[in-house]
Amino acid sequence: MKFFVDTADIAAIKELNDLGMVDGVTTNPSLILKSGRAIAEVTAEICAMVEGPVSAEVVAEKADDMIAEGRHLAKIAPNVCIKVPLTWDGLKACRVLSDEGHKLNVTLCFSAAQAILAAKAGATFISPFIGRLDDIHMDGMDLIADIREIYDNYGYETQILAASIRTVNHIVDAAKIGADVITAPPSVIKSMANHVLTDKGLAQFNADWAQTGQKIL
Ligand code: E4P
Repeated sequence: MKFFVDTADIAAIKELNDLGMVDGVTTNPSLILKSGRAIAEVTAEICAMVEGPVSAEVVAEKADDMIAEGRHLAKIAPNVCIKVPLTWDGLKACRVLSDEGHKLNVTLCFSAAQAILAAKAGATFISPFIGRLDDIHMDGMDLIADIREIYDNYGYETQILAASIRTVNHIVDAAKIGADVITAPPSVIKSMANHVLTDKGLAQFNADWAQTGQKIL
């Protein structure tokens, strides 16, 4: 499973990237706002640090305008992945930009029907939003499973990029289902290392070690 980091925070990306844990990055207009930086500048900096695809999102609503914005964003770096919303215009933009050889991430996917259209439109990645479905008392993980089944039925090459991840269980469940990629905030990825029994076991080992009176170095 590939790990993308869902942030435009350079320091947070660097910490995980230095551990070899970053296969790509996703941003969106809200994350750019949070970074307080210009999209071109921060995207260029991320692209220079990370080898994999870095999603930068268009904000226009009409297909022609999305295409123009997408082409512009793609000039920032060779590893920019153009992110378009799952609207009819977004699908049109996806088809054109994908045919031009760009990588496309179709975002804001909330149904299997939408995911089928994204695959047909040549998306490199489809981003189903797990957390936001859970927020409205639907099961976001069911959507990941449905898309996996459908894509496998027909051999669609579009990669399932499980997004809007809020918990460690979201990551594990998406991995069990076979999502190709997860994108999660750095804090959620780092919390995968936590376990109460690890903390308890370490405390016991440290206490016992202190009683030996020994030193390793
Ligand atoms: C994905 O590309 C989005 O940036 C992201 O996962 C949205 O997550 P949120 O629902 O926590 O804002």
